[in-house]
Amino acid sequence: MRMPLVIGNWKMHGTLGEARVLATALRDGLKRPRGVEVVCCPPFTALAAVAEILGAGPIQLGAQTCHHEAAGAHTGEVSPAMLADLGCRFVLLGHSERRRELGESDGLINRKVGAALAHKLTPVLCVGESAEERRQGLTFTTVEGQLRAGLAGLAGDTLGRIVLAYEPVWAIGTGVTATPGQAAEVHGYLRGLLSELASKEAAQKTRILYGGSVSADNADALVAEPEIDGALVGGAALNAQGFIAIVRKAARVGAAAKE
Ligand code: 13P
Repeated sequence: MRMPLVIGNWKMHGTLGEARVLATALRDGLKRPRGVEVVCCPPFTALAAVAEILGAGPIQLGAQTCHHEAAGAHTGEVSPAMLADLGCRFVLLGHSERRRELGESDGLINRKVGAALAHKLTPVLCVGESAEERRQGLTFTTVEGQLRAGLAGLAGDTLGRIVLAYEPVWAIGTGVTATPGQAAEVHGYLRGLLSELASKEAAQKTRILYGGSVSADNADALVAEPEIDGALVGGAALNAQGFIAIVRKAARVGAAAKE
Protein backbone atom coordinates (compact mmCIF):
# COMPACT_ATOMS: atom_id res chain seq x y z
CA MET A 1 0.00 0.00 0.00
CA ARG A 2 1.24 3.50 -0.85
CA MET A 3 1.35 5.90 2.08
CA PRO A 4 -0.60 9.07 1.19
CA LEU A 5 1.64 12.12 0.81
CA VAL A 6 0.60 15.76 1.12
CA ILE A 7 3.03 18.49 0.07
CA GLY A 8 2.53 22.20 0.65
CA ASN A 9 4.16 24.39 -1.99
CA TRP A 10 4.37 27.86 -0.49
CA LYS A 11 5.63 29.31 -3.80
CA MET A 12 6.95 32.91 -3.57
CA HIS A 13 4.99 33.81 -0.47
CA GLY A 14 5.86 34.99 2.98
CA THR A 15 8.35 37.00 4.91
CA LEU A 16 10.60 35.15 7.30
CA GLY A 17 8.26 36.11 10.13
CA GLU A 18 5.21 34.76 8.26
CA ALA A 19 7.03 31.55 7.40
CA ARG A 20 7.90 31.04 11.07
CA VAL A 21 4.28 31.55 12.12
CA LEU A 22 3.01 29.09 9.50
CA ALA A 23 5.66 26.45 10.26
CA THR A 24 4.98 26.71 13.99
CA ALA A 25 1.23 26.29 13.46
CA LEU A 26 1.83 23.23 11.27
CA ARG A 27 4.25 21.67 13.75
CA ASP A 28 1.84 22.21 16.63
CA GLY A 29 -1.22 21.11 14.66
CA LEU A 30 0.34 17.96 13.20
CA LYS A 31 2.26 16.48 16.09
CA ARG A 32 1.61 12.85 15.18
CA PRO A 33 0.07 12.57 11.72
CA ARG A 34 -0.88 8.93 11.26
CA GLY A 35 -1.12 7.16 7.94
CA VAL A 36 0.13 10.14 5.94
CA GLU A 37 3.46 11.74 5.10
CA VAL A 38 3.61 15.55 5.17
CA VAL A 39 6.11 17.86 3.49
CA CYS A 40 6.29 21.63 3.28
CA CYS A 41 8.26 23.56 0.67
CA PRO A 42 8.91 27.13 1.80
CA PRO A 43 10.83 29.63 -0.34
CA PHE A 44 14.64 29.33 -0.15
CA THR A 45 14.86 32.34 2.17
CA ALA A 46 12.83 30.55 4.85
CA LEU A 47 14.25 27.01 4.57
CA ALA A 48 16.75 27.28 7.40
CA ALA A 49 14.27 28.90 9.80
CA VAL A 50 11.54 26.38 8.96
CA ALA A 51 14.02 23.50 9.33
CA GLU A 52 14.78 24.70 12.83
CA ILE A 53 11.10 24.95 13.77
CA LEU A 54 10.19 21.53 12.35
CA GLY A 55 13.25 19.96 13.96
CA ALA A 56 13.11 16.21 14.11
CA GLY A 57 9.29 16.21 14.01
CA PRO A 58 7.21 14.34 11.47
CA ILE A 59 6.77 17.17 8.93
CA GLN A 60 9.52 16.97 6.35
CA LEU A 61 11.19 19.79 4.48
CA GLY A 62 11.32 20.28 0.73
CA ALA A 63 12.51 22.93 -1.70
CA GLN A 64 10.74 24.31 -4.75
CA THR A 65 13.56 23.74 -7.24
CA CYS A 66 17.32 23.22 -7.40
CA HIS A 67 20.24 23.54 -9.80
CA HIS A 68 21.60 20.45 -11.56
CA GLU A 69 25.20 20.89 -10.38
CA ALA A 70 26.49 20.29 -6.85
CA ALA A 71 28.42 23.59 -6.81
CA GLY A 72 29.95 26.09 -9.18
CA ALA A 73 29.74 29.50 -10.81
CA HIS A 74 25.94 29.69 -11.14
CA THR A 75 24.91 33.06 -9.78
CA GLY A 76 21.62 33.03 -7.94
CA GLU A 77 21.22 29.25 -7.95
CA VAL A 78 20.91 26.74 -5.11
CA SER A 79 22.38 23.27 -5.42
CA PRO A 80 20.90 19.94 -4.32
CA ALA A 81 23.91 19.50 -2.02
CA MET A 82 23.02 22.76 -0.25
CA LEU A 83 19.41 21.64 0.14
CA ALA A 84 20.42 18.27 1.56
CA ASP A 85 22.76 20.07 3.96
CA LEU A 86 19.81 22.17 5.22
CA GLY A 87 17.80 19.07 5.96
CA CYS A 88 15.62 19.00 2.83
CA ARG A 89 14.38 15.58 1.83
CA PHE A 90 12.26 16.54 -1.20
CA VAL A 91 12.54 18.93 -4.13
CA LEU A 92 9.83 19.96 -6.59
CA LEU A 93 11.05 19.83 -10.18
CA GLY A 94 9.43 20.78 -13.47
CA HIS A 95 6.67 22.88 -11.94
CA SER A 96 4.63 24.43 -14.75
CA GLU A 97 5.26 27.92 -13.39
CA ARG A 98 9.00 27.39 -13.92
CA ARG A 99 8.50 25.72 -17.29
CA ARG A 100 6.38 28.66 -18.44
CA GLU A 101 7.96 31.69 -16.75
CA LEU A 102 11.61 30.61 -16.85
CA GLY A 103 11.61 28.40 -19.91
CA GLU A 104 12.74 25.27 -18.05
CA SER A 105 13.00 22.55 -20.68
CA ASP A 106 12.41 18.83 -20.26
CA GLY A 107 16.15 18.32 -20.78
CA LEU A 108 17.07 20.68 -17.96
CA ILE A 109 14.46 19.14 -15.68
CA ASN A 110 15.90 15.71 -16.45
CA ARG A 111 19.36 16.85 -15.31
CA LYS A 112 17.84 18.25 -12.12
CA VAL A 113 16.04 14.98 -11.39
CA GLY A 114 19.32 13.09 -11.74
CA ALA A 115 21.15 15.58 -9.51
CA ALA A 116 18.46 15.46 -6.84
CA LEU A 117 18.61 11.65 -6.76
CA ALA A 118 22.40 11.74 -6.57
CA HIS A 119 22.10 13.87 -3.42
CA LYS A 120 19.50 11.59 -1.84
CA LEU A 121 16.68 14.09 -2.33
CA THR A 122 13.32 12.77 -3.48
CA PRO A 123 12.42 14.57 -6.71
CA VAL A 124 8.76 15.44 -7.13
CA LEU A 125 8.50 15.58 -10.91
CA CYS A 126 5.56 17.76 -11.99
CA VAL A 127 3.77 17.19 -15.29
CA GLY A 128 0.54 18.55 -16.70
CA GLU A 129 -1.19 19.82 -19.80
CA SER A 130 -2.44 23.33 -20.59
CA ALA A 131 -6.10 24.11 -21.21
CA GLU A 132 -5.41 24.29 -24.95
CA GLU A 133 -3.67 20.90 -24.96
CA ARG A 134 -6.62 19.33 -23.15
CA ARG A 135 -9.04 20.96 -25.58
CA GLN A 136 -7.09 19.48 -28.49
CA GLY A 137 -7.10 16.02 -26.95
CA LEU A 138 -3.37 16.17 -26.26
CA THR A 139 -3.43 15.53 -22.50
CA PHE A 140 -1.86 12.07 -22.61
CA THR A 141 0.64 13.05 -25.31
CA THR A 142 1.78 16.03 -23.25
CA VAL A 143 2.21 14.26 -19.94
CA GLU A 144 3.82 11.27 -21.62
CA GLY A 145 6.39 13.52 -23.31
CA GLN A 146 7.15 15.28 -20.04
CA LEU A 147 7.46 12.02 -18.11
CA ARG A 148 9.64 10.23 -20.65
CA ALA A 149 11.95 13.24 -21.08
CA GLY A 150 12.05 14.00 -17.36
CA LEU A 151 13.16 10.47 -16.53
CA ALA A 152 15.32 9.81 -19.62
CA GLY A 153 18.54 7.95 -18.96
CA LEU A 154 17.85 7.30 -15.29
CA ALA A 155 18.53 3.81 -14.06
CA GLY A 156 15.38 1.73 -13.66
CA ASP A 157 16.01 1.10 -9.98
CA THR A 158 16.20 4.84 -9.21
CA LEU A 159 12.81 5.46 -10.77
CA GLY A 160 11.17 3.87 -7.76
CA ARG A 161 12.59 6.69 -5.63
CA ILE A 162 10.71 9.53 -7.26
CA VAL A 163 7.29 11.06 -6.64
CA LEU A 164 5.17 12.25 -9.56
CA ALA A 165 2.72 15.13 -9.45
CA TYR A 166 0.01 15.58 -12.04
CA GLU A 167 -0.79 19.27 -12.10
CA PRO A 168 -2.98 20.32 -15.01
CA VAL A 169 -1.94 23.91 -15.76
CA TRP A 170 -5.56 25.01 -16.12
CA ALA A 171 -6.30 23.91 -12.56
CA ILE A 172 -3.41 25.73 -10.86
CA GLY A 173 -4.51 28.77 -8.90
CA THR A 174 -7.79 28.96 -10.80
CA GLY A 175 -10.20 27.42 -8.32
CA VAL A 176 -11.09 24.91 -11.06
CA THR A 177 -10.06 21.43 -9.95
CA ALA A 178 -9.80 18.43 -12.22
CA THR A 179 -12.62 16.05 -11.37
CA PRO A 180 -11.46 12.98 -9.44
CA GLY A 181 -12.24 10.96 -12.57
CA GLN A 182 -10.19 13.21 -14.86
CA ALA A 183 -7.23 13.11 -12.49
CA ALA A 184 -7.45 9.36 -11.88
CA GLU A 185 -7.47 8.70 -15.62
CA VAL A 186 -4.18 10.58 -16.09
CA HIS A 187 -2.66 9.03 -12.96
CA GLY A 188 -3.47 5.57 -14.26
CA TYR A 189 -1.87 6.43 -17.58
CA LEU A 190 1.28 7.73 -15.85
CA ARG A 191 1.49 4.59 -13.73
CA GLY A 192 1.26 2.46 -16.84
CA LEU A 193 4.14 4.40 -18.40
CA LEU A 194 6.24 4.02 -15.25
CA SER A 195 5.62 0.34 -15.32
CA GLU A 196 7.07 0.26 -18.82
CA LEU A 197 10.01 2.60 -18.03
CA ALA A 198 10.95 1.05 -14.69
CA SER A 199 9.09 -2.05 -13.58
CA LYS A 200 5.62 -3.04 -12.47
CA GLU A 201 6.83 -3.14 -8.86
CA ALA A 202 8.38 0.34 -9.03
CA ALA A 203 5.23 1.72 -10.64
CA GLN A 204 3.04 0.22 -7.92
CA LYS A 205 5.24 1.78 -5.24
CA THR A 206 5.42 5.27 -6.76
CA ARG A 207 3.21 7.95 -5.29
CA ILE A 208 1.39 10.06 -7.87
CA LEU A 209 -0.01 13.27 -6.36
CA TYR A 210 -2.66 15.53 -7.77
CA GLY A 211 -2.16 19.30 -7.72
CA GLY A 212 -4.36 22.17 -8.87
CA SER A 213 -6.79 24.06 -6.63
CA VAL A 214 -6.83 21.36 -3.95
CA SER A 215 -8.70 22.55 -0.87
CA ALA A 216 -10.17 21.13 2.30
CA ASP A 217 -13.49 20.92 0.41
CA ASN A 218 -12.35 18.77 -2.50
CA ALA A 219 -9.41 16.82 -1.05
CA ASP A 220 -11.43 13.83 0.13
CA ALA A 221 -13.08 13.18 -3.22
CA LEU A 222 -9.70 13.34 -4.94
CA VAL A 223 -7.74 11.10 -2.57
CA ALA A 224 -10.62 8.62 -2.45
CA GLU A 225 -9.53 7.61 -5.96
CA PRO A 226 -7.23 4.62 -5.62
CA GLU A 227 -4.87 6.09 -8.22
CA ILE A 228 -4.46 9.43 -6.37
CA ASP A 229 -1.85 9.08 -3.64
CA GLY A 230 -2.06 12.54 -2.13
CA ALA A 231 -1.92 16.19 -3.03
CA LEU A 232 0.48 18.95 -4.01
CA VAL A 233 -1.17 22.00 -2.51
CA GLY A 234 -0.45 25.62 -3.43
CA GLY A 235 -2.71 28.42 -2.19
CA ALA A 236 -4.45 26.34 0.47
CA ALA A 237 -1.07 25.42 2.00
CA LEU A 238 -0.61 29.02 3.16
CA ASN A 239 -3.36 28.60 5.72
CA ALA A 240 -2.33 26.27 8.52
CA GLN A 241 -5.82 25.11 9.44
CA GLY A 242 -6.81 24.55 5.81
CA PHE A 243 -3.65 22.57 5.11
CA ILE A 244 -4.05 20.48 8.27
CA ALA A 245 -7.62 19.67 7.22
CA ILE A 246 -6.34 18.44 3.84
CA VAL A 247 -3.68 16.31 5.55
CA ARG A 248 -6.27 14.72 7.87
CA LYS A 249 -8.58 13.94 4.96
CA ALA A 250 -5.76 12.40 2.96
CA ALA A 251 -4.84 10.24 5.93
CA ARG A 252 -8.38 9.04 6.56
CA VAL A 253 -9.87 8.75 3.12
CA GLY A 254 -6.63 7.76 1.44
CA ALA A 255 -5.99 4.92 3.83
CA ALA A 256 -9.57 3.64 3.64
CA ALA A 257 -9.60 3.75 -0.17
CA LYS A 258 -6.36 1.85 -0.50
CA GLU A 259 -7.07 -0.94 1.95
P1 13P B 1 -2.91 25.81 -6.22
O1 13P B 1 -3.22 24.80 -5.15
O2 13P B 1 -2.80 27.22 -5.69
O3 13P B 1 -3.82 25.69 -7.39
O4 13P B 1 -1.43 25.47 -6.76
C1 13P B 1 -1.13 24.17 -7.11
C2 13P B 1 0.32 24.07 -7.35
O5 13P B 1 0.84 24.62 -8.30
C3 13P B 1 1.12 23.31 -6.39
O6 13P B 1 2.42 23.08 -6.84
